[in-house]
Amino acid sequence: MIKASDTGMAGESMESSDSRALMRAALRLRTVIPAFNIPYLPMMAPVVQALTETDCLGFIAVARLEWEKFEAGSPAAIADEYRRVKMGECTRLHLDHVPVLDEDDEWVDYEAIISDALALGFDSVMVDGSRLPFAENVEATRRVVALAQAAGVPVEAELGAVLGHEAGPLPPYEELFASGRGFTAPEEARDFVDQTGVDWLSVAIGNVHGAISAARKDDEKIAARLNVPHLDTIRAAVDAPLVLHGGSGIPQDYVREAVLHGIAKVNVGTAIRQPYEQALPRSVEAAREAVYTRTLEVVRDELGVAGTATLLRGGSSTAA
Ligand code: 13P
Repeated sequence: MIKASDTGMAGESMESSDSRALMRAALRLRTVIPAFNIPYLPMMAPVVQALTETDCLGFIAVARLEWEKFEAGSPAAIADEYRRVKMGECTRLHLDHVPVLDEDDEWVDYEAIISDALALGFDSVMVDGSRLPFAENVEATRRVVALAQAAGVPVEAELGAVLGHEAGPLPPYEELFASGRGFTAPEEARDFVDQTGVDWLSVAIGNVHGAISAARKDDEKIAARLNVPHLDTIRAAVDAPLVLHGGSGIPQDYVREAVLHGIAKVNVGTAIRQPYEQALPRSVEAAREAVYTRTLEVVRDELGVAGTATLLRGGSSTAA
């Protein structure tokens, strides 16, 4: 993890990440670690502050699309800002979605981006080969696992289709949910984890990402549902901690139920991005305040994860 005392050159004082143990502790203790997405750098400080004040273990997460399409800058700018605003031991820095094939159907040099992030001291990384056929997703994920192993950093990958980032409209949600189209297949999930050695698996069980296209990013997100029996069949096939993307807008009972059934990390983006963007015309300070307030609500009221930093640090030191 990046230490507050680390003011040296990027990566020089990097120590092996403890994120792997923290996630296993979350799985074992049936709690969840929220990952808050940061599309604008000024959002980072209020998220860190809210997590620290509530003693909640959380990831500060930035996806490639957040520096390509929003204002997160670059992995280096993100790591710098993280060093600047980090307080205490409640947060870890996660590189979210680095797609192999992106939401606009462009190929991405994912290995270069992830190598940079590892050198910058990110605590965990995600490669997203979910738009590829199974064998190619396995191949890309294996490459990233090999890269990250040297830095002792855990890797997340995705299997199944968590839609929403693409520019076009979603297929009708009820149809998607009822048909289970794109849901992670349990047998494939088992083979995927076995063949890649990936640490955490993002699954599709009814969850969708909030829209990010200019035309639809301000829309109110649909209240997605989760097929918890389907999650159970994945859980039975896979020992790895599972990740729920598209956390904004899912009714909290579903999320809490999913946590009892193997979800150890939940990604939250739209829920804090929209309040930031709505308040920004007033001032950056007002926008940061809106992020702080919304993050507190998510942590305390919606996820009920205040106090997990102490719990998980204790749990991770005794975790198998
Ligand atoms: P939401 O914007 O729907 O919360 O999704 C965030 C996410 O999953 C980022 O990986």
